[in-house]
Amino acid sequence: MSPSTIVVAGATGNLGGRITRALVERGADARALVRPATAPTKLDTLRSLGVAITAADWTASALAPALSGAACVVSALSGLRDQIVAAQSVLLQAAVQAGVPRFIPSDFSIDFTGLPPGQNRNLDLRREFHARLCQSPIAATTIFNGAFADMLTGEMPLILFRLRCVYYWGDADQPMDFTTMDNTATFTAAAALDPSTPRFLRIAGSELSARQLAAIASEVTGHRFRLFRAGGLSRLDKLIRVARYLAPGSNSLYPPWQGMQYMRNMFSGQAKLHPLDNARYPGIHWTTVRELLAAHLSH
Ligand SMILES: NC(=O)c1ccc[n+]([C@@H]2O[C@H](COP(=O)([O-])OP(=O)(O)OC[C@H]3O[C@@H](n4cnc5c(N)ncnc54)[C@H](OP(=O)(O)O)[C@@H]3O)[C@@H](O)[C@H]2O)c1
Repeated sequence: MSPSTIVVAGATGNLGGRITRALVERGADARALVRPATAPTKLDTLRSLGVAITAADWTASALAPALSGAACVVSALSGLRDQIVAAQSVLLQAAVQAGVPRFIPSDFSIDFTGLPPGQNRNLDLRREFHARLCQSPIAATTIFNGAFADMLTGEMPLILFRLRCVYYWGDADQPMDFTTMDNTATFTAAAALDPSTPRFLRIAGSELSARQLAAIASEVTGHRFRLFRAGGLSRLDKLIRVARYLAPGSNSLYPPWQGMQYMRNMFSGQAKLHPLDNARYPGIHWTTVRELLAAHLSH
């Protein structure tokens, strides 16, 4: 086993690609595991990084040879039960067969360890996979990063730039965690190369409440951002139930109600990361939400 050989599954994806790049930047022998059907154009960036790529059928016996000699397998798969439970279980089985000592699952989320089951469909799938991880003879490390801060300028309806307001449920002073994808990838690469990681690592580039987000948005844009309280958490619970009934979208990764479930978990404080492990690897510049918004608005 070589301590610097790390295999990334999902390396053609958004986060997986960044983790692979960060591994190369740290001098690792980074290897990408892809499916035979993966579009060849998705491999160009990996090739330009000099990463060894193995395309294999997603069965334990076909994957195991590509994992042989690795110190850690990092999964950055994305999806629902087929990916998070089924495909990751095959990857885990292959890692055990190949004698890989460590595994980083594709969690990269808010901290779901204290959430009651049934509150967040996508995170329940991760919990289901954790039950299998716990039974396997491999040391697992989950990385919790809160929400990707990058989403604040797009997919995440918290800062409503055109309306100049910050939208929230419950308590305007509840702190929430935001970390950029690049910071998450850099920290994950460092953790993959670290032989003694604990079961959970928690990171956040910024810990901010809705009120603090409004202050930062005001400061960065030069316009006053108001707070808009959509309602209490019990109202959000009812809305989630109605949205789920009207538009189940069961095969969709992010139907509207799923986004609301993440909001619910963040605004309740139940998924807050504590304590943070940001200082574990020196030399990482943690991009703050203020820096991210300023850079976004200057483009
Ligand atoms: N905390 C947050 O705010 C936040 C936000 C977004 C995502 N995330 C998390 O970050 C992680 C990565 O997400 P992402 O957005 O980077 O994903 P992505 O860009 O959609 O990439 C998914 C990767 O998984 C691979 N894949 C999908 N199904 C597979 C299967 N059945 N077998 C093998 N490989 C498969 C894809 O390979 P192909 O190229 O072959 O399709 C691709 O490489 C996930 O855990 C996701 O939930 C967190």
